[in-house]
Amino acid sequence: MNGKHKIITLVLVAFFALSFNTHFAHALVKDSDVDGLSDDAEIRQYRTNPQIFDTDGDGRGDGDEILDRTDPLDRESSYIATLIRQDPGIFGNPNQWAWYLGRASGILALILLTSVVSFGLVVSSRAFFKIVPGATAYEVHRFVAWLALGAVVFHFSTFFFDGFIKMTVAEALIPFALFRELKTVTGFSFGTAVAFGTIAFYGLLVLVFTSQWRSKMSPKLWRVVHSIAFVTYLLFILHGFMAGTDSEVWWMRVLYSLSLGLVTFLVFVRIISRNVMPTWRAWRKRENEGTEMPREG
Ligand code: HEM
Repeated sequence: MNGKHKIITLVLVAFFALSFNTHFAHALVKDSDVDGLSDDAEIRQYRTNPQIFDTDGDGRGDGDEILDRTDPLDRESSYIATLIRQDPGIFGNPNQWAWYLGRASGILALILLTSVVSFGLVVSSRAFFKIVPGATAYEVHRFVAWLALGAVVFHFSTFFFDGFIKMTVAEALIPFALFRELKTVTGFSFGTAVAFGTIAFYGLLVLVFTSQWRSKMSPKLWRVVHSIAFVTYLLFILHGFMAGTDSEVWWMRVLYSLSLGLVTFLVFVRIISRNVMPTWRAWRKRENEGTEMPREG
């Protein structure tokens, strides 16, 4: 074989070797289901089906699951499965305990404050003293107000530990200081909803402390200060409804309706018993005196 033949033979051998290799390589990277894994790897290494994009049918492709480090043969093991898995609750979700406690204590504060306002109206209307003696109603009103104050302090303190909201003390105590690019479940600005809660908290502080040292104030001044109770009540109802995650849930709506219904009813009773009834009685008395027959002798 002369040199020319040698060169031609070498070129031919190289050509066949290369084409065989390309064919071989192509077989190796063949990916029938286009999931990013070669058929060969699916069969030999991952034991997934090379004809099915998502072998375990959990919504995430086999190749993606390998990259995510989840199991492509287990439909419970994928990020999508984690996202759509049912809320495991406070004990299954240790990172969210602060949020759950914040919501629960907010609801507790709402119930306690509704009781405080209701007993206050029972005391001032004097209409139910046959059912609840005045002194008892007054003591319950005062005691539950302290409990409610404790519940509110606990309620907002939990959000200091919440990994999502990450509320600071200044944000909690200065109205409108908190700002987050966030709409609440009911579609309100999160910062405004929380600001109403902060103002209601200050209202509650003023009401509780001025009542504790009531004897050191003139009755008239105390009454004027105490009238902020109505604004405070409306603010905390607004706050809860606007900020709350549970505001869309039926039982929370029932709770808000019961609270508003009870307080509205008691305000109505108070107006009747303290304003309408005395005026009517005075009018009746004057009428009776006017029609009374003059006595003889
Ligand atoms: C009188 C005072 C307050 C009352 C009665 C109250 C009550 C409530 C209620 C009933 C909820 C709804 C809970 C739910 O839907 O699960 C709520 C939510 C909330 N409150 Fe308050 N709150 C008060 C003050 C505050 C203050 C001062 C702050 C913080 C500065 C605050 C921060 C929040 C936050 C961040 C939420 C939303 C929690 C969620 O995701 O549901 N609250 N509050």
